[in-house]
Parts: sequence; C-alpha cells; structure tokens
Amino acid sequence: MAYNLLNNKKGIIFGALDENSIAWQVALKAHEEGAKFVLTNSPVALRKGDIYKLAEICGNAQVIGADVTSIEDLTALFGSSMEVLGGKLDFILHSVGMSPNVRKGLDYMELDYDYFMKTIDISAMSLHKVLATAKKFDALNEWGSVVTLSYIASQRTYASYSDMAQAKAMLESIVRSFGYHYGRYNNVRVNSVSQSPTLTTAGTGVTGFNAFYSYAQCMSPLGNASSKECADYCVTLFSDLTRKVTMQNLFHDGGYSNMGISERLITDCFSCQGNCQE
Ligand SMILES: NC(=O)c1ccc[n+]([C@@H]2O[C@H](COP(=O)([O-])OP(=O)(O)OC[C@H]3O[C@@H](n4cnc5c(N)ncnc54)[C@H](O)[C@@H]3O)[C@@H](O)[C@H]2O)c1
Repeated sequence: MAYNLLNNKKGIIFGALDENSIAWQVALKAHEEGAKFVLTNSPVALRKGDIYKLAEICGNAQVIGADVTSIEDLTALFGSSMEVLGGKLDFILHSVGMSPNVRKGLDYMELDYDYFMKTIDISAMSLHKVLATAKKFDALNEWGSVVTLSYIASQRTYASYSDMAQAKAMLESIVRSFGYHYGRYNNVRVNSVSQSPTLTTAGTGVTGFNAFYSYAQCMSPLGNASSKECADYCVTLFSDLTRKVTMQNLFHDGGYSNMGISERLITDCFSCQGNCQE
C-alpha cells in the first residue's frame, strides 16, 4: 500500500547491486511512494547489469556510475543528477560497504593496512565525501534527508565483522558531525539505520553470517527486519513526517539491540544448532 510519502521528492540512491540489496528495495519503495531518483553504483557493479532492470521498473530512472571514494566521480554524479532530475534533491540513500580484509578472510590480528584504508574509505569516509559534494553543489533542499546503513558491530564485538566494525563506528560518527553542520547550514538531516543481519552480497560475505542471522532472529522479540522492511523505514526517514530526526543511529532490528537473552534462544536455538532461519 502506498501513501504518496515521497511525492515530488527527488534523490540519489547509492548501492543497488541486485534484488537482495537493501538499496534495491529502497528504490522500489521510493518509486512506489512517488519519488524520482538517480541510481548509482561503482563501475564494476554496473557491469554486472542488474541495476538497469531496476531502473526500468522505477520509471526508467537514470543510472550514473560513480566510485563512491572518488571526488571526481561524485562531482560528476551530483552535477548530472541535478540536471536529469531538473533541480535540487530531497534525499540521498548511502547504502555502500566493502572490506577487502573481510573478502580475503584475513585474521583480525593480521589485517592488511592498505585494505584497512580501503575499507574505511569505501564504507565510512565515502559518506563524508557524498555529503561534502552535496554541500558544495548546494544540492539538497531545506529539510532534505540523508540515510546511511550501519550495523551494531560498530558498538559491540562481532568476531568476524573485522575492520567493518571500525568503519561502521566512523560512519556513525560522521552522521553525528555532518548532521550537526548540515543541520545548521540548511536544516538537512543525516541519520544511520542500524539494520538486522540481511541476506545480501555484503551481508553473506561475512564469515559465519548464518549464525549472526539465526542468533539475532532468536533474540529479537519481533524477529529480524528484512530488506523490504528496512526500505519502509528509510522511506519514512526521507518523508516530511520525520523532519526533526537527525544525527541519530536508529536501530531497525526487531528489538535485538536492547536484548540480553531471550526465552527463544534458551528453548529453541540451543537445540536448532544455529539453523533456525524463520
Ligand atoms: N546485509 C546486512 O546484513 C547488513 C546489515 C546492516 C547493515 N548493512 C549495510 O547495508 C549497506 C548495503 O549493503 P547490502 O547488505 O545491501 O549489500 P550489497 O552488497 O547489496 O550492497 C553494498 C553495495 O556497496 C557498493 N559498493 C562497494 N564498493 C563501492 C564503491 N567503491 N563505490 C560505489 N559503491 C560501492 C556495492 O556495489 C553494493 O551495491 C552496507 O553499508 C552494509 O554494511 C548490511
């Protein structure tokens, strides 16, 4: 059911790789709610091709490639997006993350520091670059909304999440710092959504992802939040109904973040051997 929450709103959506991507679901929902937007991803992701199917479903949205670590690419992206959409933007989804250390399965105590820098650049500093480029172009309307995706490993240790934990901590800090400055400048709001484990390319790339997923499922009174549910939440954050929400890390996790231990974990999960996926 659509509520026209994003009628006449324009934006840029970063990070739709395939239909499992959180950004993919956000794009579908934003389209359903009346938004017009540009889809962007890295040149490698564009070569995969799926994003063009999404663009077609979303009213032939324009697809513009950009490596989120490159100021040059971001400058071109913002310039072209404002041209294509015919003016300033109202929302940005930053749904981007990647760790070469995780990809290569390196032990946390023996990380490669060039990879570590890459993790930080792609998964955290890129949010600063996106916001700084938006500010340079004065690309966001007053009360514009920027949402990025985080994970609770920013605050607690999840052994195999590796250097992505540091990236998420930095990402959430940029949300607070840039949220202050952009708020003062033009009432733009900036928030992170700390999402449940979700079956996507980035998510399943983390060693032991099924255990993360099952454990969170057993702990959360409402169960894990799906990518579609995450999209619903993001759309409310882009809408005018959440104008005074900014500089927050917002948990979207079925209650997981406030749990200690659940009855379900005791009764079901210890006997399901971590295979519980409902
Ligand atoms: N899946 C989960 O369990 C989970 C949970 C909480 C938060 N998140 C976060 O959600 C966000 C989206 O991830 P997802 O789970 O939808 O997985 P995904 O793999 O579908 O999305 C990650 C995206 O980042 C893009 N990307 C990587 N490097 C890039 C670069 N240099 N330039 C531009 N784009 C680049 C990829 O192409 C991909 O589209 C990430 O920040 C992730 O950490 C995921």
